[in-house]
Amino acid sequence: MKYIINSLSVNTFGDPENIPVIFVHGFPFDYSMWENQIAELKNDYYCISYDVRGLGDSYVGDGQYTMDAFASDLFSIVHEMNINQPVLCGLSMGGYIILRTLQRDSKRFRGVVLCNTKASGDDNEAKLKRAQAIDDINVKGLDFFVSNFVPNCFSDFTKKKNPELVEKITQNAKRHIPKGVKGSVFAMLSRNDTNEILPKLEIPALVIAGKDDKITPVTAMKEMADKIKDSDFTEIPNAAHLTPLENPEKFNKALKEFLDTKITK
Ligand code: MLT
Repeated sequence: MKYIINSLSVNTFGDPENIPVIFVHGFPFDYSMWENQIAELKNDYYCISYDVRGLGDSYVGDGQYTMDAFASDLFSIVHEMNINQPVLCGLSMGGYIILRTLQRDSKRFRGVVLCNTKASGDDNEAKLKRAQAIDDINVKGLDFFVSNFVPNCFSDFTKKKNPELVEKITQNAKRHIPKGVKGSVFAMLSRNDTNEILPKLEIPALVIAGKDDKITPVTAMKEMADKIKDSDFTEIPNAAHLTPLENPEKFNKALKEFLDTKITK
């Protein structure tokens, strides 16, 4: 089913009586990046995947977003759709949104899956890269930016073995509205550090890293997992930053095992 909630495009799959899992995509992607996971889970879990404000079919508005506003969007989906204690699963920017959401109120959630993400904010080098990204989109256009940025999210293995996937995801990202993409860049650049929430989390967590990820490396992700009391850690082989797309078999196995054993009704 497709819903518009608070001007956000929300897609649901499966029986609303099952345990809900909300998927939050990374940058600059959309809800469809979770299609392999939804295909695997939708018979046993109620899967919800939405387009982050400014991307996909969600409303772009003035393009001025913050990570906190993205967290408010996630809360509005939970409230307005009456979703009871969902599990949150986010990749990279999706993880930033989830960590800010948990910092505001973690009691509303049953568990969390953090993929290829981090709790720290941008350092100076990262901020300057964001400035370059905005400049590239303004001066050279979204296609130029996407053609450089998106393939770098994939491992060499995926680029060689599955160039069609790299091409499909790259072309898909070119369909966004530039103002919305720049809005996400600003929101990431200005996000707060959320490390303080990690040791306070009272819900089970699964942390998933990609073996060849240069954006959120395995060692940093393991350190993040170690700060969470009840956490499992998995490293996905033959994958870089886009683990659920690059190695869906291994990713789904880890996700399903976590949900089936750690998450209860
Ligand atoms: C993402 O995948 O969401 C982005 O690469 C995150 C980032 O640029 O910090």
